[in-house]
Amino acid sequence: MSLKENPVLSTILGRRSIRKFQSQAVSPEVRDILLECAFAAPSAHNRRPCAFIVIEDRATLNALAEAHDSGKMLAQAPLAIVACAETANYPQGDRAWVEDCAAALENILLAARALGLEGVWLKVMDRHPRNELVRPILGVPDSVQVVGIAALGFGDEVKEPHGGVVKEKIHWEKW
Ligand SMILES: Cc1cc2nc3c(=O)[nH]c(=O)nc-3n(C[C@H](O)[C@H](O)[C@H](O)COP(=O)(O)O)c2cc1C
Repeated sequence: MSLKENPVLSTILGRRSIRKFQSQAVSPEVRDILLECAFAAPSAHNRRPCAFIVIEDRATLNALAEAHDSGKMLAQAPLAIVACAETANYPQGDRAWVEDCAAALENILLAARALGLEGVWLKVMDRHPRNELVRPILGVPDSVQVVGIAALGFGDEVKEPHGGVVKEKIHWEKW
């Protein structure tokens, strides 16, 4: 068996950003395991600042699609999981909560793909103007940063995997 046939590796290697979704809902069982996978992500110093907002309500998904200038697919997606960081007690000057949320988002996207769903990562982050439009919809308090959104559902488009490595971008032992 080729290494690429390994189910985890084929999930990783086949992942693409999918922005068209069927109307079929995501079951609570699948939704819940996606959340468990999010919580399984690594966390700097094991501080675990990540918290998640699950959005299944069509009106809220539509409002987010309107607010996020690059998130129009939310109007089609049956599910979104928003990765947030509780930063009130996070050490000043350390922003590893961004990486923590990024790791959680990637876990969600890969787990979704492993279960036959597709998705796309939508950046929100603290300094982008779209943040100010998205935050009131989510009702997050000031101490919470919204890092990104995973738009999820059964895909309605197929993309070729990237495949291969960029040899020029791999440095051996030193840059
Ligand atoms: C940090 C980050 C932010 C992203 N933000 C958006 C976004 O706001 N809207 C969007 O449609 N795609 C977004 N994407 C998806 C990228 O556009 C996508 O990964 C890239 O085009 C490569 O395509 P692929 O994911 O199919 O390999 C984001 C991806 C990352 C990693």
